Amino acid sequence: MNETLKNIRNRRSTRAFLPEQVNGADLTEIIDAGLYAPSATNKQPWHFTIIQRKDIIDRLSEAFKEIAMKSDNEYIRRFSDNEKFHVFYNAPTVVLVSGDESNDNASVDCGVAVENMLIAAESLEIGGCWVGLISYLLNSEEGKKFVKELEIPEGFKQIHSFCLGYKKIEITNAPARKENNVNYIK
Ligand SMILES: Cc1cc2nc3c(=O)[nH]c(=O)nc-3n(C[C@H](O)[C@H](O)[C@H](O)COP(=O)(O)O)c2cc1C
Repeated sequence: MNETLKNIRNRRSTRAFLPEQVNGADLTEIIDAGLYAPSATNKQPWHFTIIQRKDIIDRLSEAFKEIAMKSDNEYIRRFSDNEKFHVFYNAPTVVLVSGDESNDNASVDCGVAVENMLIAAESLEIGGCWVGLISYLLNSEEGKKFVKELEIPEGFKQIHSFCLGYKKIEITNAPARKENNVNYIK
């Protein structure tokens, strides 16, 4: 298996991080991997906000838990009951990926960019976890103050996010993959 295939295969959602900050040069490489993702008609309808301030990351998590408490969705509500739960697993770096609201492909294009960045992180021995949950906060009324504080440009909405950091533990076994969802027609 070549290095690219190994990194794709070995990437796992990391949910326990060491406190050390991600190396700046490596972070630049990871973000570049996102910028070089394909996008429909090359519109690149994304904006990345990289947060490395623990106080902001913690406030985002707390605010998420507060709105989760009020959610009609039982799955979301569950997160607010857990005192230890941190939506970004106490990772030292968080990347918010916002998408151009006027672009119908923004969700797909931003998702492709996220996966590029997560694979790039794996190749640099940096762990990451895709975090969709934070959209419940950032796309809500309560989230507007964060959107302003984090300088997310006008006309962009929160689509995906992920956290990054050095892995506290190496996860070697992947969650089971579904079978029978591949069909070759020859
Ligand atoms: C769109 C999307 C949203 C996700 N949101 C979350 C999330 O909010 N929190 C979390 O812990 N994992 C989240 N994940 C990670 C998945 O749970 C994970 O990818 C899946 O269980 C497979 O595990 P693996 O990444 O180790 O292969 C998300 C993944 C995707 C693609």
